[in-house]
Amino acid sequence: TAFAPATVANVGVGFDILGFAVDGIGDRVTVTRTDALGVTIEGVIGISGADGIPSAPEKNTAGMPLVRMLEEFQPGFGFAVKIEKGIPLGSGMGGSAASAVGAVVAANALLPNPLPIEKLLRFALDGEAVASGAKHADNVAPCLFGGLTLTGPGEDPEVARIPYPKGMYCALVHPEMRLDTRDARAALKVDLPLKLHVLQSVRLAAFIAGCCTDDFKLIKRGLDDVLIEPQRARLIPGFAAVKQAALMSGKNEVLGCSISGAGPSLFALTIDAASAARAVSAMVAAFGAAGLKAEGHVSLIAASGARLV
Ligand code: HSE
Repeated sequence: TAFAPATVANVGVGFDILGFAVDGIGDRVTVTRTDALGVTIEGVIGISGADGIPSAPEKNTAGMPLVRMLEEFQPGFGFAVKIEKGIPLGSGMGGSAASAVGAVVAANALLPNPLPIEKLLRFALDGEAVASGAKHADNVAPCLFGGLTLTGPGEDPEVARIPYPKGMYCALVHPEMRLDTRDARAALKVDLPLKLHVLQSVRLAAFIAGCCTDDFKLIKRGLDDVLIEPQRARLIPGFAAVKQAALMSGKNEVLGCSISGAGPSLFALTIDAASAARAVSAMVAAFGAAGLKAEGHVSLIAASGARLV
């Protein structure tokens, strides 16, 4: 059995390439060896709407990576998979990545020659692709390795682990609605003006430089997405008010607020735990005013990723 944490992808300014792991929320995936070759999805529990999750292994985010592992390693046995969803479906908190990563970490432990963790990323990416229709490692990498990660594109992307201020906290708020990543991706324009690209590059560079040097001012200057957030905001009821509430809850303490992954959850980064707790309250109240019940979490950026339990 492996636990795989929730993650915040994009982190506003790093669409498809930046992400961090969150403490305390995640999926648990149990894999057992079977005499029958192939992958069986035995069940998905822990969350409403889980019965809509496909049980055909090739269509399941936890199943597909294991199909690939069996094809490649031919260990002479099969895998049965049970998924306990702790991450709400379609929440923008990296649920599909967590199920894929949890499955891969658990199955790896059953192989005759388990692979080092770095070699597991490309299998987990096969699961992410089932869910979102694209291979982007911005959830999978932090889910597997923990911390804040920057990943390249491709089948087996390189992963850079970015240092970050140890006291930096995340306020993560999930409104009770579902937004499928495929739909949130379909809402995006493919061509964008060059000047926006330049502006976003400056922001991303400032954010990463600020993280590497523990410079909260630089992080705050960087954490402002001009590319994706303006296009997706309309998909989230109350978005502008919730963001404003987060920013107003601590003018100096809140470093920025944006969409977590493809949404509808929103995250804010703050300089300490107390500021994150204030941001959560303000954001939950603002979602409430927009007619949506919401649940909030306060978390450090989690240093550890998926692990056997
Ligand atoms: N980078 C992805 C997106 C994250 O924003 O569409 C969701 O999986």
